[in-house]
Amino acid sequence: MEITDDIVQELAKAASLAPSCFNNQPWRLVFIRSKEMLEKMHGALSEGNEWARDGSMLLVVLSKKDLDCVIRDREYYQFDTGLALGQLMLRATEMEMVSHAMAGFSPRKTREILGIPEDMAVITVIAFGKKAGSRTKNISDEQWAEEETRPERLALSDFAYMERYS
Ligand SMILES: Cc1cc2nc3c(=O)[nH]c(=O)nc-3n(C[C@H](O)[C@H](O)[C@H](O)COP(=O)(O)O)c2cc1C
Repeated sequence: MEITDDIVQELAKAASLAPSCFNNQPWRLVFIRSKEMLEKMHGALSEGNEWARDGSMLLVVLSKKDLDCVIRDREYYQFDTGLALGQLMLRATEMEMVSHAMAGFSPRKTREILGIPEDMAVITVIAFGKKAGSRTKNISDEQWAEEETRPERLALSDFAYMERYS
């Protein structure tokens, strides 16, 4: 699918509306759509994430500790960046795109390709595209089969407690 400038603006806007500590807005986002840069970034993805080559856009999510609140041992940049990206991904779903975050990538190669300084953390790379009607080129049989179901979640009682932690 073609991801237009308007779509990118809309996604960035959804992220920008997220709450953050002191309204620090610590997220920094690199949207990658050109064939040239996508091909370079495909080389930074880990084995097992080849399916992401069939998407239309990669979003590289950056932040650093100094951009947000640090209160004793509590560092909020990762939390606030996650909130913003959760909103962006929901907006993408509303706009009939699929998005898929990845931890499987090389931060070193990503830094080299995009010119990201060492003090900036490369938190995740998120692939975007339209939902494929039929099997795409770079997905394994197992991964394609998994597309049909969501993996099982914890029972609510395994993570939600009433009144006291137990
Ligand atoms: C921070 C993060 C990193 C992830 N890394 C990968 C990855 O490298 N490769 C992959 O295929 N899926 C990755 N995932 C996707 C999760 O495995 C997936 O979202 C989870 O199993 C729940 O499945 P669902 O999104 O289909 O409900 C990642 C998700 C998150 C939020």
